[in-house]
Amino acid sequence: MVDIIQKKRDNGVLTKSETTWMIEGYAKGEIPDYQMAAWAMAVYFQGMEMQEIADLTMAMVETGHQIDLSSIPGIKVDKHSTGGVGDKVTLILAPLVASFGVPVAKMSGRGLGHTGGTIDKLESIHGYQVERTQAAFVSQVKEIGISVIGQSDELVKADKLLYALRDVTATVDIIPLIASSIMSKKIAAGSDAILLDVTVGTGAFMKNIADARVLAKTMVELGNAVGRKTVAVITDMRQPLGETIGNRLEIAESLSVLQGGGRDDLKVFIAELAQIMLSLGGVTKTIDEILAHLSNGAALEKFKEMIQSQDGDFDELVAHPIHPTAFSKTVLSPKTGYIKSFDALVAGHLAMRAGAGRSVKSDVLDLDAGVRLFKKIGDQVSEGEPLFEIVYNKASFDVTTEINVMLGAIEITEEKISIKEIVEII
Ligand code: URA
Repeated sequence: MVDIIQKKRDNGVLTKSETTWMIEGYAKGEIPDYQMAAWAMAVYFQGMEMQEIADLTMAMVETGHQIDLSSIPGIKVDKHSTGGVGDKVTLILAPLVASFGVPVAKMSGRGLGHTGGTIDKLESIHGYQVERTQAAFVSQVKEIGISVIGQSDELVKADKLLYALRDVTATVDIIPLIASSIMSKKIAAGSDAILLDVTVGTGAFMKNIADARVLAKTMVELGNAVGRKTVAVITDMRQPLGETIGNRLEIAESLSVLQGGGRDDLKVFIAELAQIMLSLGGVTKTIDEILAHLSNGAALEKFKEMIQSQDGDFDELVAHPIHPTAFSKTVLSPKTGYIKSFDALVAGHLAMRAGAGRSVKSDVLDLDAGVRLFKKIGDQVSEGEPLFEIVYNKASFDVTTEINVMLGAIEITEEKISIKEIVEII
């Protein structure tokens, strides 16, 4: 291992057997954390060649179970987002795509920091089970065409160890390591095709378009190299997605979109993603045909079937989409104009501190807490009109300070600017 670290430190290119030996040894506990951390830091400074990243990815895949979806008929399409604020895309997109007959067998993660996790959101539906055996997962997708569950602990063991190590050694934000981490999990999860949503902006891992492009291209190449048709979209995460940040709030917003409501920009964005996923699944549809499944109840029906198949209480969700919190505070606009910026990172941190997110893994979530946004970038606002609302249950939450921080993150100007969610398709 010392030779490998030294080779990488001196800008060498590891061979496939060196990479495989290192990852296997690390997953078995034979290589200590401090040596892996030294290698990861060397990668930060020296980078990796494409073949090395591919070897690393496949070596990681081999350290855990691989899900076999081959008994499910059709082209199975997966989707992954590199993380955002208020990102409820999967909750709407998965049933929308499934409503056209393209099977969606998806494993999602929990949130940490300012980015929320789909699994936490689904758990805010009473009774919804995120843990399923592989057999139950596959059989549900065969039966109703959709399942979203938590990622199995048995998948890509090396990534679990390496990600936790990177988290505490300042080696998370390294593009080859992010690409191999994400793609190893997507490849092990077994779908035939993958849509990657690479977010860029204040609320995302990638802070600029150039880095987002490199990450997207690397992941697309990794996926295609192992026979998984892969497409990436680069999407704007300067502001939170949709109108809510928080677990139950986002479930309620997703329900509303599936019932034909919600903001038009969110609906069009999701329809554009659906169009790509459907085409990966061999189905060609226009945006209007896709939007029709949001207004005619077809996608809602799939959402309902999924929730009920996973023991969730759909009727309670429809009857009481939002659970009131002990406290709420609506903040009014200090001036008239157009929203120019709405910092996603600040909004994400605010929702996290209100109880919607975890700052450390062991934090317990308040599923009902969060933030509602009444205005987004490009919207017109009058002085005294509601801008946002914070809902929370913790009496100790310092709402006055939080409001001031958030107001400082919202810029209102005289000229109207427009924003497009999908910046580029790769
Ligand atoms: N998400 C992942 O799954 N892995 C990374 O390394 C970064 C983000």
